[in-house]
Amino acid sequence: MDFLQFSQQEGDIKLSFIGGGVMAEAIIRGVLDRDVARAEDIVVSDPVPARREALTSGYKINAVDDNVQAVMGADAVILAVKPQVMPKVLPELRGKIAPDQLLLSIAAGVGVKRLRDGLGHDVLIRAMPNTPAQVGQGITVWTATEKVSLEDRETGASILRALGEEIFVEDEKYLDMATALSGGGPAYVFFFIEALIDAGVHMGLSRDIAEKLVVETVLGSASLARQSGTHPAILKNMVTSPGGTTAEALLVMEEAGLKGTVIRAVLAAYSKAQSVGK
Ligand SMILES: NC(=O)c1ccc[n+]([C@@H]2O[C@H](COP(=O)([O-])OP(=O)(O)OC[C@H]3O[C@@H](n4cnc5c(N)ncnc54)[C@H](OP(=O)(O)O)[C@@H]3O)[C@@H](O)[C@H]2O)c1
Repeated sequence: MDFLQFSQQEGDIKLSFIGGGVMAEAIIRGVLDRDVARAEDIVVSDPVPARREALTSGYKINAVDDNVQAVMGADAVILAVKPQVMPKVLPELRGKIAPDQLLLSIAAGVGVKRLRDGLGHDVLIRAMPNTPAQVGQGITVWTATEKVSLEDRETGASILRALGEEIFVEDEKYLDMATALSGGGPAYVFFFIEALIDAGVHMGLSRDIAEKLVVETVLGSASLARQSGTHPAILKNMVTSPGGTTAEALLVMEEAGLKGTVIRAVLAAYSKAQSVGK
């Protein structure tokens, strides 16, 4: 896997968003906060009047209800509609995106080949973000076609950094893996959080206190893993006193095959991502 560092693009990029939903809003908020683009240089296209009104009044950007109009004059077009809307949107935009315009898609499971064939355009970035992007703490894995210049890659990286961290990969096959691991990852973590809260309630803690204890524990543990750079197994051993309470809990988890179950679950998601992509 290749990791490339791209420098921040400042200032005057003209951005167009097809779809003004949750992810588009997260990117808009991030690019404005980071001065990647100015509000007057951002256009969003969305069919819902209330969404357009919320985005124009909230961020002072432009909003239209016509996808073709939205892409005109943009340096980068961000495709932020649900995958099921693609059969409508791709033919609509076919032939309407100029060769020098960058198309960046964040749609899950929609591969480069489908985008290229559907749009008749091959200056493409395909990205797989995740839901913590909504609070600027996402992780996005992305790839680009050969036709994307270094400058456009820098633009793409700047846009994606609005959602949190980003990792560039040369080969698209890693996007299916990222879909299974970091794309679905928040659901697995929320599932574990939910189970821990239920355990707290079972013992007799109030739901409020249990929730606070668990969320802060997960947040703090993730921060410790990131900041220390120490392998999670070593961090786990540091909590596990000989003959202690944590050792008892870990034994129950090992006996239940929890680690193997987690690995098998992610592999099942990977297999599904590959079949959806085909
Ligand atoms: N949410 C995440 O964390 C996440 C993570 C990874 C990838 N993604 C990907 O990001 C993309 C956007 O997800 P989202 O959560 O932001 O979805 P969303 O909130 O549903 O936003 C999509 C927006 O596009 C609008 N739309 C529908 N048809 C359209 C059309 N023909 N032309 C233009 N706009 C149209 C929708 O309007 P209506 O409400 O009327 O349908 C909605 O406002 C998806 O492809 C998803 O796979 C999302």
